[in-house]
Amino acid sequence: MPAINRDRLQSLMQSEQKKFIDERPKSKALFERARKSLLGGVPMNWMAKWAGAFPPFVRNANGAEFFDVDGHRYIDFCLGDTGAMTGHSPPATVSAVREQVARGITLMLPTEDAVWVGEELQKRFRLPYWQFALSATDANRFSIRLARQITGRGKILVFNWCYHGSVDETFITLEDGVSKPRRGNVGPPVDPSVTTKVVEFNDVDALEKALQPGDVACVLAEPAMTNVGIVHPDPGYHRQLRELTRKHGTLLIIDETHTICAGPGGYTRVENLDPDFLIFGKPIGGGVPGATYGFTQDVADAIAARQNLEDCDVGGIGGTLAGNALSLAAMRATLEKVLTQQAFDRMIPLAERWTEGVEQALREFDMPWHVSRLGCRAEYLFSRTRPRNGSEAHDAMDFELERFMHLHAMNRGILLTPFHNMALMSPVTKQEDVDQHTRVFCEALRALTA
Ligand SMILES: Cc1ncc(COP(=O)(O)O)c(C=O)c1O
Repeated sequence: MPAINRDRLQSLMQSEQKKFIDERPKSKALFERARKSLLGGVPMNWMAKWAGAFPPFVRNANGAEFFDVDGHRYIDFCLGDTGAMTGHSPPATVSAVREQVARGITLMLPTEDAVWVGEELQKRFRLPYWQFALSATDANRFSIRLARQITGRGKILVFNWCYHGSVDETFITLEDGVSKPRRGNVGPPVDPSVTTKVVEFNDVDALEKALQPGDVACVLAEPAMTNVGIVHPDPGYHRQLRELTRKHGTLLIIDETHTICAGPGGYTRVENLDPDFLIFGKPIGGGVPGATYGFTQDVADAIAARQNLEDCDVGGIGGTLAGNALSLAAMRATLEKVLTQQAFDRMIPLAERWTEGVEQALREFDMPWHVSRLGCRAEYLFSRTRPRNGSEAHDAMDFELERFMHLHAMNRGILLTPFHNMALMSPVTKQEDVDQHTRVFCEALRALTA
């Protein structure tokens, strides 16, 4: 396979951009209007990064598809970057939300749903105690603070090219063995190397060396990395991570926000992990904002020993709307009726089919790329070999090529997760949606290699 011809790529991109703009006059008009009131013409800065000249404005979304204001239908493999992994507006969640919305939205008092959800989370993840937040970012932040309080240590440890939400401590990268603020880190409160150690995923020696001084409160880890392509752990890595964190008195926070794609109990249940804290956000409420963090009996005892009633509303964890009645009602319905074992039994084979389709196309066009899968999530990366860590995965990224793949797909009614090449299957994604992706993917490879 010859290297991608960059002139050809640019000319393909130009014609895809023209097609995108020509076919979306209503989105274009809304974008132009939005630029007068929204910074960059979008309600949230990341939305500026979609591969088109502007994002398609959505008219309505349902299940695994949505329509834009110009009437184009899209098969949605992005699913709100996991926030809508349940499919858009799952009927059981909608009906629970509809009922709760008429009965009170936020009270700063508990409802019975909170107890039901806590009990369900106990069964799924085998951790005894649970608390709620409005986003996975917050659930991570709160867990880090608690870990610091319990251990009396200042630092945390993360893996190179991780992503855990907008958590200050995590925007750090390793370059030639030196840790630096990550590119794009907006207004960091302090240099993150003051708060954070960073090592490569799957590097046991580096992990041990970083934990050895005994100053690391917690390791914050996705059990498999999902935000720089998919990076699977080596066999035995999680056992070593657990042994080393225990040996050095460091707490282990497993962030299942994306890896919940592995099954109803996330990667933790599939691989029998034993974390001190576990985070689950994004799809837990079927798209209604909410997140949770759970922890062990030991952690619960340590928290209780350090907090007092008078100050329990002060210290940087919690929030006025966290644990509100509406998000708890949405979580109950979603856990009970949407993100069930039966749903995963449908979703995972669809991701297998998506992976096989992409693999076959890569063989057919002799492309030096590969595709990885984790549960109902799959992703292709522009390297022949599977990365073992964040650096290898990051080195395989190609912004220009990625934008072409995304725009080409969008112009043919397929939405991938932006910023990498990820597809997620919902419980209502259809086999024909997956096969349509394979056809469009082949078409893109044909154009690139013609
Ligand atoms: C693994 C992981 N944790 C946490 C988050 C933060 O989620 P949110 O942006 O909903 O706070 C993300 C977001 O992509 C994530 O990928």
